[in-house]
Amino acid sequence: MDLLVVGSGLFGLTIAERAAEAGRKVTIIDRRHHLGGNAYSEAEPTTGIEVHRYGAHLFHTSNETVWEYVNRFTKFTNYQHRVYSTHKGIVYPLPINLGTINQFFDAAYTPAEARALIAEQAGEFDAHSATNLEERGIGLIGRPLFEAFIRDYTAKQWQTDARELPASIISRLPVRYTYDNRYFNDTYEGLPVDGYTAWLERMADHKNIEVKLSTDFFDESQPLHKKAVVGQVPIVYTGPVDRYFDYEAGALSWRTIDLEEEVLDIQDFQGTSVMNYPDADAPYTRIHEFKHFHPERKEIFAQEKTVIHREFSRFATRDDEPYYPVNTPTDREGVLAYRELGAGEKDVHFGGRLGTYQYLDMHMAIGSALSMWNNQLA
Ligand code: FDA
Repeated sequence: MDLLVVGSGLFGLTIAERAAEAGRKVTIIDRRHHLGGNAYSEAEPTTGIEVHRYGAHLFHTSNETVWEYVNRFTKFTNYQHRVYSTHKGIVYPLPINLGTINQFFDAAYTPAEARALIAEQAGEFDAHSATNLEERGIGLIGRPLFEAFIRDYTAKQWQTDARELPASIISRLPVRYTYDNRYFNDTYEGLPVDGYTAWLERMADHKNIEVKLSTDFFDESQPLHKKAVVGQVPIVYTGPVDRYFDYEAGALSWRTIDLEEEVLDIQDFQGTSVMNYPDADAPYTRIHEFKHFHPERKEIFAQEKTVIHREFSRFATRDDEPYYPVNTPTDREGVLAYRELGAGEKDVHFGGRLGTYQYLDMHMAIGSALSMWNNQLA
């Protein structure tokens, strides 16, 4: 073995695939029973509907290199993501756009009129000097829209009142003064035609790659554990960085989500893939309906059954899946300490969202792995 990759998410798979193509013998280990990390999906057994096991994943990028790279392993559908929001029993389009504004204020404002209205309402606070998230939000889009679409939604995500949250959680709240409600602005967007798992498995399908699942890097009963391999072989580690150092500089904080799955005996539950629930009286933040990600799978789409996930958000304990970095000032100090410790580890490269404590979209994880390969490992 010339390289050990810990973690088979998109970061680890990209490194492994590049190294294998360059003639290196690579072993990938993952503690889960499947490869692919959080992008993994599988067919719900009673309906055949593809379900994203760790939360909905939409691929989008404007990076030509990443787009060319991912197209070696999968074709993409022409799916374009759109999100709606049910506030006080009425459905509005997101991100906030001219359609949302006119529906909300029961008006027919032109772009210039809507701009002037929002600027006037936002004048209540100066967004730059805001001392908490509520002031920042109102300073960006005005009180009515902030209270309807952002305040309670964010409070549910963080289990904390918007007045108790730091202003830094939100830097911008984009408002579009057109009727365009495409969620992403990227050049390329789509979903893998044969599903995420087929794509991820193709990346690992190489004579130079061996994959060992249900194998934890810290489990000393398996031969490729940390103490046995560090210093013996180059390692790319994509698990949680604090765990690697046994929480020496403190545990970094994360938010996690709980997904409550239900199979319903109806053809169509909500008419779209993602519906936000921004009001305080709904305990969940969003409902995903997976068949809407693939309307081109005609037979599966037409059946009289559908699969939904209700999404709940909360702070993660050490036993939960870490999803979104909380990034408090203490966390930032911890990350710096771990970066220094990491620099002292012989031939261990820390990457990916857990290894660097950053939220990374899939295209960012792939782009960052390609850079690590080109600049440090090739
Ligand atoms: P990832 O977490 O995928 O992989 C790390 C792997 O390491 C895991 O498989 C884990 O089991 C393994 N591991 C950890 N510790 C280990 C140990 N001790 N031993 C062995 N293995 C270990 N992106 C996007 O572009 N569009 C989207 O819509 C979304 N949506 C989305 C929703 C949610 C809820 C989340 C949390 C994330 C997204 N993402 C996303 C981001 C996407 O999931 C992310 O870009 C990739 O997971 C990054 O890949 P990594 O390889 O860095 O981590």
